[in-house]
Amino acid sequence: MTSLVGNMVHHDARVGGEWWRSGTIYQIYPRSFADANGDGMGDLPGITARLNSLASLGVDAVWLSPFYRSPQKDAGYDVADYCDVDPLFGTLADFDTMLARAHELGLKVLIDLVPNHTSSEHVWFKDALAAAPGSAERAYYHFKDGLGEHGELPPNNWKSMFGGPAWTRVTEADGSLGQWYCHLFDSSQPDLNWANPVVQDEFERILRFWLDRGVDGFRVDQPHAMAKAAGLPDHPYVDEAGAGFIEGRENPPMWFQEEVHPIFRRWRKILDSYPGNRAMCGEAYVLPLSFMALWVRSDEFHQTFNFRFLDSMWEPQNLFDSINESFDAFDSVGAPSTWVLSNHDVIRHASRMGGLKGRPTASDGVGPNDPQPDRELGLRTARGATMFMLGLAGASYLYQGEELGLPEHTTLAGEFRQDPTFARTGGARVGRDGCRVPLPWEAGVGAANGFNTTGAGWLPQPEIYREYSRDQQEGVAGSTLELYKSALRIRKELKLGEGSFDWLPEFVSERALGYRNGDVLVIHNFGADAIALPAGSVLLRSVAGAGPTDPIGSHETVWIQA
Ligand code: GLC
Repeated sequence: MTSLVGNMVHHDARVGGEWWRSGTIYQIYPRSFADANGDGMGDLPGITARLNSLASLGVDAVWLSPFYRSPQKDAGYDVADYCDVDPLFGTLADFDTMLARAHELGLKVLIDLVPNHTSSEHVWFKDALAAAPGSAERAYYHFKDGLGEHGELPPNNWKSMFGGPAWTRVTEADGSLGQWYCHLFDSSQPDLNWANPVVQDEFERILRFWLDRGVDGFRVDQPHAMAKAAGLPDHPYVDEAGAGFIEGRENPPMWFQEEVHPIFRRWRKILDSYPGNRAMCGEAYVLPLSFMALWVRSDEFHQTFNFRFLDSMWEPQNLFDSINESFDAFDSVGAPSTWVLSNHDVIRHASRMGGLKGRPTASDGVGPNDPQPDRELGLRTARGATMFMLGLAGASYLYQGEELGLPEHTTLAGEFRQDPTFARTGGARVGRDGCRVPLPWEAGVGAANGFNTTGAGWLPQPEIYREYSRDQQEGVAGSTLELYKSALRIRKELKLGEGSFDWLPEFVSERALGYRNGDVLVIHNFGADAIALPAGSVLLRSVAGAGPTDPIGSHETVWIQA
């Protein structure tokens, strides 16, 4: 058995802290959760009607992806009005009803705050376009003159995360070709200028608007992009890094600039001034984690997503390192570590783990012409991975549908694809639609299996989703839904989220990884051969039908009280 290399981290239990330190937060993707009015697009009344299913699942909180007014060029991450609900999803009154119902069921509600960019349909941007270069209106965004004799070249070499240049040239009010504006994402998502105090004040109002309504906090989109290096210099490694960054390389001019910290501190003060432990989680793509620790100091974010863990490809050494780095980094500032395996931007882990682990980036999706994952292997490993994650101390994030074991829709035809990545790369990167398909609730109810009763869907479900429908799993021993329910129940009863962490040295190898959380042992078998079960009483195992004394099977995780 090859042992793994590296220090073995220790983490102390921290019982009785605020809910966000140990809670399980379920991501609702409103477009695809439940559709009450049958138009094919999920909505707030649909969410309200189905919230009881999340309470019975056993999660502590929900996070809703954007439902604000938006032309939906990036599925709502292009916000045209931060303080209103898009008619696609309902009304503000529907939001209030949803929030009240969630609170009645004991669920906290986090909403998505998208501060790096607005929609090009936002009134701020429309005003900026109508105003002259150098005006106060343009100062909301990053407008610059182009390079070249006639300003025909973009102001710098930055690229969009979705492909192509990060700059678009505008036509001025007099019809002439004019300045360029910066967009790290789609051209319909102009980046705000956070060096402008007026922009900062606008967001204070937005935060207060939702906090006053009673939300429990925010998931903050792309916070690492908000501040740009003064003068917007060229990205020194753009050819290697593309739109992104390379770990260990000098700070790229558009990511994780120092100037983000005063903004987070200001927000933290606002949240802390409200009762009831409001919290904010940053979607911070910051590496190494020791650097990200600066983001969760006690007066900044409460927590950040842990993409280091998500990206560990489920490889023993990588996973081992990611957990060591996580506790090391987050404990150093007293913040909880978070854990996540799936979200609306990456290939669902039930498919990633079915043979796609080696793909360079999980956010590029899988198309009909790509190698297809092994569904059985994927689900078996994903169930093990989830149980491995839910045994860890800290806060865990779940993505809607993973509790059903849903695979990615990997054969979605190009004609249905809506992610801007698909269009901006001419289909070379198929994008993220495959993980955003409407959920199946009741098998055979309409073509969308109970997502609504009409069968309409903004993305079609694959045939196989029928067998994953919630009603096919509810109360069925061994189903993925029942596995999640049991894991969440035991996690709560034994306070695993508030617990401790120590590796089990005899299970730190290429073949198996195991740790202890209080008196619970969590062991995952990466190999093909079964491993003898240590002494103790088995609490839960990820392979359906495995007997209480069976050895630990291939890709299985067991929880043992010892
Ligand atoms: C975040 C969102 C993603 C969106 C991007 C731009 O990464 O999760 O869906 O496309 O930001 O807002």
